[in-house]
Amino acid sequence: MKVRIGIIYASVDGQTLKISKILQEELLKKNYLVELYSIDEFNKDITSFDKLIIGSSIRYGVHHKKIIEFINTNKAILDTIKTAFFSVNLVARKPEKNTPTTNPYVIKFFKTIDWKPTLVEVFAGKLDYKKYPYFDRIMIQFIMWMTKGPTDKSVEIEYTNWDQVTKFAETLHKL
Ligand SMILES: Cc1cc2nc3c(=O)[nH]c(=O)nc-3n(C[C@H](O)[C@H](O)[C@H](O)COP(=O)(O)O)c2cc1C
Repeated sequence: MKVRIGIIYASVDGQTLKISKILQEELLKKNYLVELYSIDEFNKDITSFDKLIIGSSIRYGVHHKKIIEFINTNKAILDTIKTAFFSVNLVARKPEKNTPTTNPYVIKFFKTIDWKPTLVEVFAGKLDYKKYPYFDRIMIQFIMWMTKGPTDKSVEIEYTNWDQVTKFAETLHKL
């Protein structure tokens, strides 16, 4: 019987979904049965999966509320299978902040949640000012200015390192 992997994601502008889809593709190549769900639609029995991957982007310093609630509600069951968590954010575009032990959001997240997944990763996300409503754009421009990133409102940059995503899939395979 094929090993079943579930991927649950929370994404607003699509980058976490894009990463999740690449992970799905890579794992399908390795002959797993891989099911992809947004956190809003997931209603499966967690134990029907051998491995579960949970991915969330960061907005204003925090991972999506529903992801946090899901983990808190299901912690005991999550501990019975192999699990992975990945965070997507723009601070991770900086080489000195792009690992689980150096990314401030990941560090803080695991200080505030009582869960230890088998594997943790962090990916740099995408900056696309055109997509953001006015207030969000101003805020992101401010955050980027503070962190010495691009502030021109026409900028669209995908910082995600796709080799890193492929490597993560490989590590998941070896779990
Ligand atoms: C409203 C908003 C707030 C954000 N807040 C942060 C933040 O606090 N820190 C950070 O590093 N990135 C932040 N980002 C960047 C996102 O994490 C990044 O664009 C990511 O790729 C979004 O993933 P998604 O498309 O799956 O939602 C923010 C983006 C938006 C639109």
